[in-house]
Amino acid sequence: MSDYTTLEADARERIAGAADLMALETLRVEFLGKQGSISGLLKTLGTMSGDERLEKGPKIQGLRQSISDALAERKAAMEAAALAERLATETIDLTLPAPEAPTGSVHPVSQVMDELAEIFADLGFSVATGPEIEGDWYNFTALNMPESHPARAMHDTFYFPAHDAAQADQDHAQGGRMLLRTHTSPVQVRTMLAEGAPLRIIAPGRVYRSDSDATHTPMFHQIEGLVIDRDIHLGHLKWTLETFLKAFFEREDIVLRLRPSYFPFTEPSVEVDVGFALVDGKRVLGGSGDAPGHAWMELLGSGMVNRKVIALGGLDPDVWQGFAFGVGVDRLAMLKYGMDDLRAFFDGDVRWLRHYGFSFLDQPTLSAGVGARA
Ligand code: DAH
Repeated sequence: MSDYTTLEADARERIAGAADLMALETLRVEFLGKQGSISGLLKTLGTMSGDERLEKGPKIQGLRQSISDALAERKAAMEAAALAERLATETIDLTLPAPEAPTGSVHPVSQVMDELAEIFADLGFSVATGPEIEGDWYNFTALNMPESHPARAMHDTFYFPAHDAAQADQDHAQGGRMLLRTHTSPVQVRTMLAEGAPLRIIAPGRVYRSDSDATHTPMFHQIEGLVIDRDIHLGHLKWTLETFLKAFFEREDIVLRLRPSYFPFTEPSVEVDVGFALVDGKRVLGGSGDAPGHAWMELLGSGMVNRKVIALGGLDPDVWQGFAFGVGVDRLAMLKYGMDDLRAFFDGDVRWLRHYGFSFLDQPTLSAGVGARA
């Protein structure tokens, strides 16, 4: 038997006898590591004569291969044994309660928009929409806001740059210079032009203004209302707003105060206040603002649609008239559900969403009281 055969037999015996993976690794280092015995033999090849190398080279290589195979086989066998052992001894307790799967929640703004759609659907209003990237003709001009109107100023409005002549032409086709709409009122004109009269619509959606503090965010939500028919007057406006606010806040004692105001797109214009009391530092709507311990809070803008707006909407103002209103959806949500920082609405903090969000099963319905149940 050559030296190599003895070496191989010895090594294989020790590998077969290794007790565990650690011992096996020690053997691997001993034979095949940088300083290992087989590695040492391989190094001697360099010092041999050509003939000797031709004879011994393949033997040493064969030895190395054989030992490395033996190590791999033993390792696989140990691992298989360990797995078999675990499978035989470990059990899974299927009666343990499973961890709860995380569920999302409905954002208060979405919830409130659904509540409003439900209330107004009951009054015969359908939902209309318009683009958030709007032309200045729809956003301003058609609403009787002339070029010099302060709301058109750069510091209030996010305008898009007109890059070149082709862009400017395209802008013009879409209703002038492009901007992020500053209110939902352009949907009034778009809907009149698209559908004619009579009309009863609400238009909820995102609006944008260059404004930011605890009660203002650059993006917020409004809902617009528009009724166009032949004999509409301020009484219809007042009744509609009262009915909507009583249903929304789920209180019969909501009291409104209508104050003369000015909006370019309504004539006359009416600012609507609602009475409230401070209870434990929170505003609770209900009762007259003139009652003891109560005050008035400005809630929304409204009025009879200006004749010019009706004409720009493609209708004859001698035949058709109507009322409109606009109100902040985020503001309504804050008042009803008691949040006090508007910025938190749009931070996307899951802790806030878990606290103020609603179950997707909480569909608002009038019959059960439109508000979500806790
Ligand atoms: N567009 C107004 C705003 O954003 C709100 C508003 C006021 C809308 C009076 C109306 C209205 O439809 O009649 O401040």
